[in-house]
Amino acid sequence: MPLTSQEIQALIRTAMDARRFAYVPYSNYPVGAALRTKTGRVFTGVNIENAAYPQTICAERTAIFKAVSEGERDFDAIAVVTENGGAPCGGCRQVLSEFGMDTRVLIADGNGRLLRQTSVAELLPEAFTPEKLKKK
Ligand code: THU
Repeated sequence: MPLTSQEIQALIRTAMDARRFAYVPYSNYPVGAALRTKTGRVFTGVNIENAAYPQTICAERTAIFKAVSEGERDFDAIAVVTENGGAPCGGCRQVLSEFGMDTRVLIADGNGRLLRQTSVAELLPEAFTPEKLKKK
């Protein structure tokens, strides 16, 4: 089911609110995410950086891992809010693809303006998905 424009705005607002909790002492580039499950639950995520830089986790993956660790694997949409409307990184696209290519991706800026509405399928063509590991 496509999200209504009210549902889209609500998800973006939730991602904006979450973004305040980003821990970004190194990049100073806070990211907020809000992931909506098909059951209607919403999980937020922020980027959490680390003095050992590669240990940083992105906002999208924080939200996905929170959801999956609470038994949710089917997603409708994820809203991602950054100052300048940055799109999810390759690693987060890959992690999203694990749970479905049809998840909507809503990209918004720091004012909550929806800049782009796309999907995992569009963001990650020819994804390496779980089906590839199935025995013939
Ligand atoms: N970041 C995210 O949280 N999500 C993305 O999809 C792209 C990058 C974070 C990681 C790091 O804390 C900061 O943005 C700059 O790369």
